Amino acid sequence: MQEIKFYSGENIPLELHKVRIVQKLNLVPIERRLEALYEGGFNTFRLSTKDVFLDMLTDSGTNAMSDNQLAAMMQGDDAYAGSQSFYRLEKAVQDVLGKKYLLPVHQGRAAENIIALAYVKKGSLVPMNYHFTTAMAHITDKGGQIVELLYPEAYVINSDHPFKGNMNIEKLEEVIKRHGAANIPFIRMEASTNLIGGQPFSVQNLRDVRAIADKFGIRLVLDCSLLGENAYLVLKREEEFKGSDMKTVIHAMTSLADLCYFSARKISSSRGGGMCTDRPEIIKELEALVPLYEGFTTYGGISIREIEAMAVGLYETLDETMICQSPSFIKYLVDSLDAKGVPMIKPAGVLGAHVDAMQVCAHIPQTEYPAGALAAALFLISGIRGMERGSISNQRDEEGNETYADMELLRLAVPRRVFTLSQIKYVEDRMNWLYDNRELIGGLRFVYEPPVLRFFMGGLEPTSDWPQKLMAKFKADFGESL
Ligand SMILES: Cc1ncc(COP(=O)(O)O)c(C=O)c1O
Repeated sequence: MQEIKFYSGENIPLELHKVRIVQKLNLVPIERRLEALYEGGFNTFRLSTKDVFLDMLTDSGTNAMSDNQLAAMMQGDDAYAGSQSFYRLEKAVQDVLGKKYLLPVHQGRAAENIIALAYVKKGSLVPMNYHFTTAMAHITDKGGQIVELLYPEAYVINSDHPFKGNMNIEKLEEVIKRHGAANIPFIRMEASTNLIGGQPFSVQNLRDVRAIADKFGIRLVLDCSLLGENAYLVLKREEEFKGSDMKTVIHAMTSLADLCYFSARKISSSRGGGMCTDRPEIIKELEALVPLYEGFTTYGGISIREIEAMAVGLYETLDETMICQSPSFIKYLVDSLDAKGVPMIKPAGVLGAHVDAMQVCAHIPQTEYPAGALAAALFLISGIRGMERGSISNQRDEEGNETYADMELLRLAVPRRVFTLSQIKYVEDRMNWLYDNRELIGGLRFVYEPPVLRFFMGGLEPTSDWPQKLMAKFKADFGESL
């Protein structure tokens, strides 16, 4: 894709869309934001959007839809079975993902549940480049375990490695030999590895994984939720694909997998999810479970209107001017914060900008959840809602011990085509201020900890009166400003 250069020489990510529907936002006073934090147990998932100014929690289900997606929703063919909307989606999956058979499900984790139900049993081991919370929870729920096989550079915060999401091929072979191929139902590769900062893998790496999978006769499952962005970064960063196009890269990746699944909340800026494959025996194994857990196989628990939006959204994933918007805003934010000394995950990845809470809150021990504390502090001083991606998002081990995360990250998601550049500059400004006042941030402790996926509904409290002190400093510096 052609870069648009500015006469001024500034590096500005220019929006190639116009805004035609808007939603009003509120920026409530800091006193109210403090109350909201106590009400929501210092967990940004539990905030109400009436208290949130910029919602950077996630890109899941929050990407802006296009005019064509909204228009398509009006032609939904409501039918329990055999809906024409399903066939339009099936065609989109064939064209965009290059897979013949499709099973829709209500969202990404529903696919993870069904795949785990079909293939994982007690004693199974699933190697993956890195876990995603729900993928791991469904595998462990069925008695299996996961093993993460990234190269060491994936954990280097300030890096220029283009493919930190690559799977460690040597370790993969070692793990298979040690554990036995018969106990490994599938290898899982996640595009744009979410929890290490939205970092991609290369097509070459996926080819190498495929070669090992073939050698040992193991299925390769590809989590395509963030495949569009991974493909975009392949176009930018992998020599072989420079000057190629989105469809070629996407097909190069999906053709290597036996089974693909996705959260449509992400890949197609709609709702829903799906599983697709060229292999008839796989579709038979999964098909049996869909009516039990999701709904009939032509709607899979999704509204027919969303199925129409999903089909159009999938085609739009191939449009570089659309897919580049979020990664280029993220790069802008990462580069500008990095220039001010704020420790950021580099290179900039996709889905969001990731702040290294381990460094920002070096004075907070991991036992007091530095990334959760940073997320709460940023909300307090700005109304910006980010997401903790650190130890709170980890699950306890089988004995109930804490497992501390490899990285303590505050994720500031940049959903597609939602924010303006002045809003991104506000994020930069408030994050800079918080970094300069980072010593005022204190720790958190759990007061309510659910047994599964505790980060969603868990409740915490500050370990001291640090929020009040941080608020006082904000008021001293900003006066009456919101
Ligand atoms: C990489 C990845 N896989 C799976 C999922 C689960 O998808 P869903 O939220 O639609 O259940 C997500 C959601 O964020 C994700 O990022």
